[in-house]
Amino acid sequence: MRIFLDTADIEQIKQGVKLGVISGVTTNPSLVSQAGVTDYESAIKEISTIIPDGPISAEVVVEGVGPMIEQARQIAKWAPNVVIKIPSTAEGLEVISALAKENIKVNCTLCFSVNQALLAALAGAAYISPFVGRLDDIGQDGMQLVEDILDVYDNYEEIDTQVIAASIRHPEHCVRAAMAGAHIATMPLKVIMQMIQHPLTDIGITRFLADFKSVSGK
Ligand code: E4P
Repeated sequence: MRIFLDTADIEQIKQGVKLGVISGVTTNPSLVSQAGVTDYESAIKEISTIIPDGPISAEVVVEGVGPMIEQARQIAKWAPNVVIKIPSTAEGLEVISALAKENIKVNCTLCFSVNQALLAALAGAAYISPFVGRLDDIGQDGMQLVEDILDVYDNYEEIDTQVIAASIRHPEHCVRAAMAGAHIATMPLKVIMQMIQHPLTDIGITRFLADFKSVSGK
């Protein structure tokens, strides 16, 4: 499973990249707002240079098929590795299929059902993003949706849409996403740092250093 950073915060992206485990970035209008980004285009261009090989998702912020296609075409010019986020709606399907014909990659976002994921794949989405945490928030098992989408996609070898487990809130989500075989999980830097943490590792390091010092005197 690949790991993407789910943020528009340039400093966090630079910090995360140093870990050597990040291969892409996802953004959305709320993350842009949280990061205080006023120029979305410049931010995406900068992120695209920090991770030149990885897909960088930028979301359309207009409604209507025509305006969404037009904005997606403009965003696609920002950098060669940009992927356009389009919502899981009827209009979104039209946009996805039009963009797929132009070889513009789409990350179909705000996915909350297997049917939405199936339709996005048929329309030609390169990625589907089921929002795990937001389903958990309303009392459902969000990760079950990831598992179900993977099962359905596995039934059809012609489907090559990659599943991005999104709206990841804690390390247990990552474990379940990886066990389910999600292609990608996108998460905040905070969750990646929580993934690496274990108290027994910290205790072990302290003890090893103390034991070595007791015999070496250093
Ligand atoms: C990523 O593509 C999504 O936009 C993001 O994971 C949503 O996360 P949230 O539900 O925590 O806002």
